[in-house]
Parts: sequence; structure tokens; C-alpha cells
Amino acid sequence: QKKATNVEINAQNVKDTISRHIYGHFAEHLGRGVYDGIYVGESAKIPTTYGVRNDIIEALKELKIPNLRWPGGCFADTYHWKDAIGPKEDRKAIENMSWGGYREDNSFGTHEFLNLCESLGAEPYLAVNMNSGSVAEAVDWKQYVNHKNGSSYLTDLRKENGREKPWNVKYWGIGNESWGCGGEMTVDYYVNLYKRYAIAMAGNDMYRIAVGPGEPDYNWTEVLMKEIPLRLMEGISVHHYSVIDWSEKGSSTAFSTDEYFQTMAKAWFMEEFITKNSEIMDQYDPEKKVALIVDEWGGWYETDPEGNGALYQQNTMRDAMIAGVTLNVFNNHADRVKMANLAQTVNVLQAIILTEGQKMLLTPTYHVMEMYKVHQDAALLPIEMNSDAMYSRGDKEIPALSVSASKDKAGVTHVSIVNIHDSESQEVNFMLADLKGKSVSAEILQSEKLQDLNDFDNPDKVAPKVFKGFKSRQGQINMNIPPFSVVVFEIK
Ligand code: AHR
Repeated sequence: QKKATNVEINAQNVKDTISRHIYGHFAEHLGRGVYDGIYVGESAKIPTTYGVRNDIIEALKELKIPNLRWPGGCFADTYHWKDAIGPKEDRKAIENMSWGGYREDNSFGTHEFLNLCESLGAEPYLAVNMNSGSVAEAVDWKQYVNHKNGSSYLTDLRKENGREKPWNVKYWGIGNESWGCGGEMTVDYYVNLYKRYAIAMAGNDMYRIAVGPGEPDYNWTEVLMKEIPLRLMEGISVHHYSVIDWSEKGSSTAFSTDEYFQTMAKAWFMEEFITKNSEIMDQYDPEKKVALIVDEWGGWYETDPEGNGALYQQNTMRDAMIAGVTLNVFNNHADRVKMANLAQTVNVLQAIILTEGQKMLLTPTYHVMEMYKVHQDAALLPIEMNSDAMYSRGDKEIPALSVSASKDKAGVTHVSIVNIHDSESQEVNFMLADLKGKSVSAEILQSEKLQDLNDFDNPDKVAPKVFKGFKSRQGQINMNIPPFSVVVFEIK
């Protein structure tokens, strides 16, 4: 007989804040991510703001999107920003060499991206071209977007192109996957090159992010920490996708419970990946000055057989489970993880939004992000969990439950809990010292089948609902969490 899981939520030893930037997003020039996704152009029939879909702007604002990474990904290491400024009719068309060689007219460039971020209230996160670009090109980009009006010919040019004030871009990725699509560099080569960029791009309030590993290559992290002076690096980025097998990724919609289990095991690997990278960083940076940034994460399956653009996939309750578990992992590592970016925002990989012509829908992953936004910039509440709730297949087992808790600036506590088990519900007790006199409410994201999704015929099939499966008494909240569901409690 399985025992109930006890979760002690400690409001005393609070020391870390959950950076809102953990809830960040990523939009690459890939498939229908930017063109025919976020950006449809000013002559489109859909309501837009300078060519960006208004319905997408509203949906992202609703999430309180804290930051947006752009223009890639692999694409960033092929991108020349100067091709995409000035009058649109004069911009050079390019071939998107990273994602199928299709033509892009560069009508969505630096101004369009940074203005979008400004209207969203999100911090832009630019990735510089370290492979086919140069240090000079990166420094020029920084001058163009950040320097005061009149301080150089580049700022004059910015003004001519319609933008007086600088945008003050803080977050800069120096390359992307430099061990792979970004140049297949060795770590020693990368470190030397990184230092050249980092020195040239130094400045007040600059947050330079070095490329870390995308698989458990902990030596890469160690060399970065050992060889790059801490004054030259504010963050290290790592990537981890919940992919079953790179050569056979499986369908995004027609999957078995075995495949579901494998995806969940990969999602849980994030915990180990962050822990091991953090342990290395702790040795060289015990004060945690350098952040760990997971600037690509999410589920990755075979591209939709219908086409719909490169790396287009549907999004089911399985993806909601990946999101719930992963975001709890990030919250619980708030001491070192300061930013993360789900791959990707619209029509690509584990998208939060899908579009088809004039239509737009919100995926189950969007709803998890929306439910979890309450954790943004809240104080992380340490938890102690006593659980034998496991999810197993053959000789493998992973935890069935994932939990994180925070207290926001208004004193409201939120606890997010995920039960990834495909068939068993879980009995759970939350223990909180100051529960007396508080009101407790909760929302749940669940559906009948793991494969359930939102499509253009039924866009609201999977949506959050009020959760009533709990009782609050004597310093405890007792609950029954249904299989494959995400629940967020509010205690105030
Ligand atoms: O997100 C899709 C791709 O995955 C990115 O371009 C690359 O960085 C990673 O391999």
C-alpha cells in the first residue's frame, strides 16, 4: 500500500528569488516561427501592430513574458543584422541555411524585434553571430541598439531608420551551440574566441552569456569556469531537449505510454543536468555570480507529417507534463538558474501558440506557463518532500510527483504540483506553518487522454479549470492529484 506523500513547505529559510526570466521564450527564424507565425507583415488581413499579430501580442502579455531570445538558435550563427535594417524594400533577401534553405526577405529585423519586445514589456535577448560573423559585427550591433543618439555613425543610422532612443539591450548570447551547428568548435577554441567577444562587448549592464553544453559534457562547463575570468561572463547557457531518441523522435500526437514514460525520463534529466553543472560552477564561483541559463528546453518529436513548416509539432498533455516538471526544477534551482527559454514560442517545437491562417490557438504548454506565472519574482519556499510515489516501466523508475512553492510580494503563497503518472492518482499532504485563517484555492490542467490537445476545430479542449479535490484543515492541505495533471494552489 502506497503511503501519502508529505510535502513540508518552509516559509522560514527563504533566501532565493525565482527570477521571472526563468519563464522566458525563444523565437528563431525557423519554419513558421517568425514569418507566418509571429510576423505576418503589415499588409496582412489579420490585425497587426507593424506586422506582428495582435492576438499573439495579447497572448504573450497575458503570460507576462519576461524575455524573448532571438534570432536563433543555429540561425543566429548565420545572421547578419545589417541586412535587415532600413527601408524594407531595400533589405537583402537571404537564404535560411539552417532550416531548409528557404528565402527570407528580412522584413523582420532588429527594429521589428526590439519594438516587439518593448511593446510586450519583455527584455530582448540577442544571440550574436560567432560563426560566420565577426567581433566587429557584434560590437556594431551593440552600438546600434544601445548607444545614445549621436554617439557614432551607427546611432545616426538608427535614428535615420526611425528610432531615436537606444533600446538598452542587456542580454547577449555569444554564439549558440558552438560545439555543434555554431561551428563544431572544441571548448578551448571557443574559450579563446569568447574572450575576444566578451572584452569587445563589455559595458555597463551588459550580460554576456557563454555557450555551455547541450548534453552531459561537464568538461565543457569546467573549462569555461576555469579559463574565462568571472568578470567576462555573466551567464552560461545550456540546452536540454526531452527527446526520446534523436534518430527516432516519435510522433507528437500518436504515442504509446512507453514513449510517454521515456519522454518523462528525459524531462526529469533536467534535474541531474542542472545539479551537475551547478556543482562544477560552485567550485569556481561559490558566490554564484555567474548564472546558469537554460536557453533552449522542451519536447522534440518528428515534424508534423502534414508539413506546416520546419519543426512544427502538435502539443498534448505530455507537453504540459514536461513543462510542469521542468519549471518546478528551475524554480527549485533558483539560486543558480536565472533564466530559461522554452523552445519555441510559435509554430516550432514545444510551442505555446499555434497559428493557421487567421486562426490562433493556445496549447496545453501555454496554459502551464500561464498557471505558473505566479512564481515570477516570488521568493522560493524550500520544501521537504517525503514520497514513495514513483512512476515505473520495466526496471526504470522516476518520481511521479514534482513540486515547487513560492511566496509573492503580496504575501500570497503558490504551490505547483505535477503528477506525471499515466494512470495513478496521488494522495498528497501539504504542511504549512501559517495556514490558519487563510483561504485556499486551486486550478488544474487535466484531460481524459494523454494525447489530448487543442486544435483549430476544438481550440479549448485542454484548458485550466477550478480544482476542488482538496481539504484544508489543521495546518495541512490534503489532496488527491489525478494522473497526468498540473495543479497550482493559491494560499492567501
Ligand atoms: O530550437 C531548435 C534548434 O535546436 C536550435 O536552433 C539549436 O540551437 C538547437 O539545436
